Amino acid sequence: MDFKEHVVKKIVDITGLDSETAMKSVEIPPDEKMGDLAFPCFPLAKVLRKAPPVIAQELAGKLSDDDIIDRVEAVGGYLNFFFNREIFIRETVTAIQSAGNEWGKSDVGGGRTVLVEYSSPNIAKPFHIGHLFSTALGNSLAKIYSYLGYNVQSLNHLGDWGTQFGKLISAYKRWGDKAVIEKNPIQELLKIYVKFHEEAEKHPEFEDEARDYFKKLEDGDKETTDLWKYFREISLVEFNRVYDILGVKFDSYNGEAFYSDKMDEVVDILRDKNLLVESDGAQVVDLSDLNMPPCIILKSNGATIYATRDIAAALYRRRTYNFYKNIYVVGTPQALHFKQLFSVMKKAGWEWADDCVHVGFGLVRFDGKNLSTRHGDIVYLDDVLNESIEKTREIIEQNNSAVDDKETAAKKIGIGAVLYTFLKNSREKDIDLSWDTMLDFEGESAPYCQYGYARGRSILRKAEGIDYSDADFAKAVSGETYSLVKQLNAFGDAVKDAAEKNEPFYVNRYVTNLTKAFNKFYNTNPIMKEDVDMDTKKARLAIVDVTTKVIKTALGLLGIETVESM
Ligand code: ARG
Repeated sequence: MDFKEHVVKKIVDITGLDSETAMKSVEIPPDEKMGDLAFPCFPLAKVLRKAPPVIAQELAGKLSDDDIIDRVEAVGGYLNFFFNREIFIRETVTAIQSAGNEWGKSDVGGGRTVLVEYSSPNIAKPFHIGHLFSTALGNSLAKIYSYLGYNVQSLNHLGDWGTQFGKLISAYKRWGDKAVIEKNPIQELLKIYVKFHEEAEKHPEFEDEARDYFKKLEDGDKETTDLWKYFREISLVEFNRVYDILGVKFDSYNGEAFYSDKMDEVVDILRDKNLLVESDGAQVVDLSDLNMPPCIILKSNGATIYATRDIAAALYRRRTYNFYKNIYVVGTPQALHFKQLFSVMKKAGWEWADDCVHVGFGLVRFDGKNLSTRHGDIVYLDDVLNESIEKTREIIEQNNSAVDDKETAAKKIGIGAVLYTFLKNSREKDIDLSWDTMLDFEGESAPYCQYGYARGRSILRKAEGIDYSDADFAKAVSGETYSLVKQLNAFGDAVKDAAEKNEPFYVNRYVTNLTKAFNKFYNTNPIMKEDVDMDTKKARLAIVDVTTKVIKTALGLLGIETVESM
């Protein structure tokens, strides 16, 4: 039983609107006292030439009674619908029971392919907090799209190509010490790379050497290629440490290098379409008609750049995956880069450029002093994650909690806390990370939601042996129960909104509100107390059961795991 559809049907009957318009116009009132759904009459005023409050009154008079809708009130220009609470609770809870762990799941995706590119760190450079933000967002989006029936491919577009590799090879051959590098690969590679820049000021010939090395690399020379492979491998070992802790997996690690032999075609296509113009010796696509700076395709020395590789990558993805959507989870500082790319692609006549989406996110600040790093000056992300786990373990110890396996619990809670923080606000907002908010078990945090889940599970353990599969909800129609069940009912909408706007925070806010409603529910509606009669007990247990399932599923879509006791 879909209550919204039912209300929409009624509205269609009395107004003559088409169901799509009616569906779009019904809203959830800001305050529960104003009903469960509201239909604003303002858009009808023009056609009917009447004031909205008059229309609302007239429409209310035309509505016939039924079981599902308890009453309808005309207030101002709104028609407010109040559901029959008992029926709503029964219908919703039994629907979730039969959905098992798949409540809110849908097949709107119909198996269409969605590419989610995320994380994409740079070889021989630190995996920084922005890459972690991308990883948290992308991982969640991938799960959300899968839950909606899309075929999702997770892509890691590694930054593993470019003239900087010529410099790195030159630096390595001069100052590289394998034994030292092996201990701290990224830190040491970065060190010699920085040294290269310092020294090259005094010795400009280093730059020529670096250019030669990159040329050799492009030509497939064995020695330089082997070195490049080595840098890539040791960097991936570090990146994988982070991915393993987070439980993140990719379907492809094709980075920029993968497209190095696929760029000639792009240049040819752009040239054939007369899109390339010369500018200071470089070949660029002019975008002045779109008020954007030109997109450089070939530098004056004929070398391709980041943007060229991205265009080649987009074309390759189109051919390989025939995607429905190609999503790039990359920080907003690169917004212009993506606008330029998509515009060039559009000018090339690739209509599917419209299916490419840049999902940007804001800056992250983290008080560096609070981070203990075993590696010195660079903040290593696995250190941040491990510190979160460590701090969580201390809290668990202090709380004397009933956890059996403190190690596993600390890991799930500590990691969840970090992921949650990245997905807490709309993604374009800058964020400040702090341990206090991340690990605030009572505030809006992962531990708060995980605790709610664990509480529910502990109630269910106490109720072992009670069969609540056939619960009668007549005695469980309290205000808190109703608010909770309304939240439960709204899960599917939150997931759809998250996908539509590429904003996992809709799911994050959802699960937080759900947990809050659950807290209120079990604090005001005793469940296992002796004086609670069996019918009420069963009804409340059934609600606890479905709530824990939905909390678990929703957290899962954020990449956050649950623990059975806390
Ligand atoms: N490697 C880049 C960086 O660290 C991000 C790559 C983004 N993806 C892309 N297709 N350009 O800034």
